[in-house]
Amino acid sequence: MKRVQYDRYGGPEVMAIAECDLPPLRDDEVRVATRAAAINPFDWKLRRGAMRLVTGRRFPRAMGTDFAGIVEATGAAVRHVQAGDAVFGSIDFKKSGAFAETIIVNAAHLAAKPSRLSFGEAASLPIAAMTAWVALLDKAQVGAGTRILIHGCAGAVGAFASQLAVAHGAEVTGTCGPDSIDTARAAGVTSILAYSDVKAAIPGARFDAVFDTIGTLDAGVGLAMLAPKGVFIDINPTPARMLRGFLSRRYRLAFANAGLKHLPAIARLAQEGALRPNVGREAPFSEALTAITEAETGPRRAGKTVLVF
Ligand SMILES: NC(=O)c1ccc[n+]([C@@H]2O[C@H](COP(=O)([O-])OP(=O)(O)OC[C@H]3O[C@@H](n4cnc5c(N)ncnc54)[C@H](OP(=O)(O)O)[C@@H]3O)[C@@H](O)[C@H]2O)c1
Repeated sequence: MKRVQYDRYGGPEVMAIAECDLPPLRDDEVRVATRAAAINPFDWKLRRGAMRLVTGRRFPRAMGTDFAGIVEATGAAVRHVQAGDAVFGSIDFKKSGAFAETIIVNAAHLAAKPSRLSFGEAASLPIAAMTAWVALLDKAQVGAGTRILIHGCAGAVGAFASQLAVAHGAEVTGTCGPDSIDTARAAGVTSILAYSDVKAAIPGARFDAVFDTIGTLDAGVGLAMLAPKGVFIDINPTPARMLRGFLSRRYRLAFANAGLKHLPAIARLAQEGALRPNVGREAPFSEALTAITEAETGPRRAGKTVLVF
């Protein structure tokens, strides 16, 4: 089968589509015929070596984490899915390999695909929706009446965070770029600020939670906008932001992989229409290298880029 892989850390030039043999299926694994795989910023950050302490120095490394497809076979210990089921999920990033015609994935990393979603829409959910869930519901415990600022409310994580916050009865203020206002409105955000207006909002602002989805809000600025028991949530930690943030008990980090256990609940909310993926472009797998490169380095476009098989 064919997959996208790279033989050293680096930019788009290190990627190639190559033939690869599948290893035997273990008891706790599922083999999936891929129908769609979504491109996340995390994928090219891994390829550039951002997590090399964890991902190591063994090459070639497969690329891609989020997928949707049809189960071909299950290991002896797998109970919740069977051959023929439509599923979606996120491969452990240490292994990766969703940009491939066939995927072998741990059974805990997938769930039944919401039937109302296309394969491309389902593949767009995992990392972004799991991150939004962990940030909003696990870390900030957003509920009815919570006042939350979502900085970057129209990106993949930001739009799911906005939808989740609205679904839980929160009062959502969002920032976004001028070309993303329609996307922000579609995510349910009614109070929309330009990025440049954030600082001006501080004197009057008292949010129960500030969620920076982009990593451009100064942690001090974010913390200054909080109500006394409010929390600032970061998903793009840098040493400087962490240092600033760790001076405050109200600074929290959120990571996608902590949200794996929420995949079935995410599927339920998507089935009910509360979570609505936004696919901007579908590209055939044969054009994967161009599509990944354009998502990474090209002009920003609304919605997620998805590879279809
Ligand atoms: N901690 C974790 O586990 C975790 C999980 C998922 C994502 N992340 C990180 O969170 C960030 C957002 O991820 P995402 O999937 O939501 O990305 P995305 O879909 O590309 O959205 C990012 C949004 O940020 C805004 N933006 C502002 N300045 C930007 C710039 N210079 N370049 C790109 N976008 C810019 C854009 O909205 P406007 O057009 O409205 O400005 C864009 O839609 C990424 O850095 C990603 O690596 C972390």
